This record gives sequence, C-alpha cells and structure tokens, in this order.
Amino acid sequence: MIEFVDIVNDCQFGDCGKGKIVSQLSKDYDLCFRFNGSNNAGHTVVINNKQYKTNLVPSGVFHNIPGLIGPGCALNVEAFYQELEYLKSNGIDASNVFVHPHCHIITDEHIKRDKEEFAKKLGTTSKGVGPCYSDKYLRTGLQAKNILPKELLWNQELKGKLLGEAAQGYWLDIDQSINYPYVTSSNTLPYAACSIGFAPQYIRRIFSALKPYETRSGEDPDFPDSLLNDPVLSRLGDIGKEYGTVTKRRRKTNWLNLDNLIKAINVSGTTHAIFNKCDVIQELNVFKLFHNDSLQEFESWADMSIYIKQLITSACPFVQEVIWSYSPETI
Ligand code: IMP
Ligand code: MG
Repeated sequence: MIEFVDIVNDCQFGDCGKGKIVSQLSKDYDLCFRFNGSNNAGHTVVINNKQYKTNLVPSGVFHNIPGLIGPGCALNVEAFYQELEYLKSNGIDASNVFVHPHCHIITDEHIKRDKEEFAKKLGTTSKGVGPCYSDKYLRTGLQAKNILPKELLWNQELKGKLLGEAAQGYWLDIDQSINYPYVTSSNTLPYAACSIGFAPQYIRRIFSALKPYETRSGEDPDFPDSLLNDPVLSRLGDIGKEYGTVTKRRRKTNWLNLDNLIKAINVSGTTHAIFNKCDVIQELNVFKLFHNDSLQEFESWADMSIYIKQLITSACPFVQEVIWSYSPETI
C-alpha cells in the first residue's frame, strides 16, 4: 500500500538545489525516485561538510534510502555504473538503487547526434537525452529490461512513503516552457511523477526548490549572452558559484522574475516554496526583481523577502509555507 507521495520540483530553470532538499527530507521516506531526465541533471549535495556530485541516482541514497530510476527517465548505463562506483568509493551504500524495466537507454548514437546536431544549436548538455526520448516516442528505443542485469531492475511493489525528485525545472519543461525548442525533452512538473505508476490522489506535498534570482545554462532568447557582461549579475554568479555541474558552463544570471515564478508555483501545485541561496543575494547586497514586467529595487533583503512572501501568500492558493535557506547544507 502506498501511504503518500511527496515531490520535490523546481519552478525556475533547474539548479535551485533539489538535491539538497531531497537528501535532507529523504530520511522520512521509504523510497526516493526520479521520474524524468537523465545525467543531463547534476545534483550537489553537502553532508557533514563534504560535497558530493551526482547525476542519476536519486538523492535519498546519501541516507541509505532505496532509490528508483523511473520509466520516464533516460539512462546512460556506463554513467550509471560509474556513479554507483563513485558512491561506493565514498562510503555510500548504493546497493538499493534500481532501474525501472521501462526506463529508456541512451546509446552512443544518441550522444553522437546530440553533440553534432543539438549541442551548439540549443545548448544541450550533449548527454544524448533528446535523441533518446525521440527514439522512445518513435517506439524504436531500447528499454532497461532489454540490457540491464536482473538484479538492477525494479520488481517490487510501490509502498509506504514515497519521495519524487524532479530533474531540471518548470521553464525547461517540454510542454510548459514558453521558449520551445530551448527546453529539455521531458516533463519536469510534479504530475510527471505519476509515470512511475501511482494515482495522482496520492500526492500530498509539493516542495519547490527556488532561488531569489535566476540562472540559465544553455541557449535561451530570454537569457542573452550579454547578461554575462553585467558587472553586478556577474558578481552574483561568482558569489553563487553558478557553474553547471554537468557542463561546467557559466550560467547566465538574472534577477528573479516574480510573474513567471507565481505562474510556475501555481501550475506545479507547489505547497512549500523553498528559497535556497538566500545567503548569496545577501552577500551581493543588491536587491532587485521583476514584477509586473518592471524591475524593482529594494533597500534590504528583509524588504525584498517580505515583498516576495506577501505576493506568494496572496497569489498562490496552494502554498502553505515559504521557507528561506541560508546554507548549502540545511534548509
Ligand atoms: P538537454 O536536456 O541536454 O537536451 O538540454 C536542453 C536544455 O536544458 C539546455 O538549455 C540545457 O542547458 C538545459 N538543461 C538540461 N538539464 C539541465 C539541468 O539539470 N539544469 C539546468 N539546465 C539543464
Ligand atoms: Mg543542476
């Protein structure tokens, strides 16, 4: 019997700290699962002052919580084995991580196509993700059950308390993003979590990883390269160490767009809005955001955070709590 499902998603462009939230929450769950994306995602998790970087394995692994890579994910088998090795060599037990038999497999050909046709044009991560999903929907793809050893395949019933970990973010979602084709090739919203095989009625809480500013890695007409030349935004990127976990590219940084944020919070069904990296904007000591399409400036972080909270409280009926986090280790 499933008790309930909670989900951690991202209402921006990814890179808002889902991994940190998932790893911390996971202690209270029986299973932590990924439902979209692949090793295009990068998770940075800090535990006892030690930083870990993962791409595929659900972040509950750091607390020994069984993990499932769902049918909506794409799997690079070699990268998966390497990550299991990496975890093992760091003393983390990854023996309870399983792959759903229907998860699709990324082939060398997918990676080659991604590098040759899409890496430059769309700024993809070159991991073969788009071409793999393309074969999935053409119904010419390869599934995990075709090639993974039996002991790595998920064959248990879903039961107890489940925690879903989205990859990427709302504005990279293939259906919701306003900037197609500058998107990823999967559904990043909480509803996609049902693809592992449970009814939507089980969803209880939806935690959203957010930042009090925005970052974008990859091509996007709303994030022109000229942003990289803005001295204050560059400083923000430096303080926040805004480099891609996967691609090492410098992320383009911009002020928070509250109009977009409200929309994403409401469509995703976010119940708990968690702003990570508030320490970063505090250190920058410049406080700006876009609201109603105009740039507004605040005297202090206190003023800006009150403004954000008031707006979320009045415009987002599902949100029960707004949380500010000032440390990479804790919420
Ligand atoms: P793809 O998912 O590799 O096809 O890349 C498509 C777009 O999504 C590119 O703009 C990538 O930079 C972006 N993207 C993919 N995964 C992530 C992520 O985990 N964080 C941030 N951006 C991502
Ligand atoms: Mg990331």
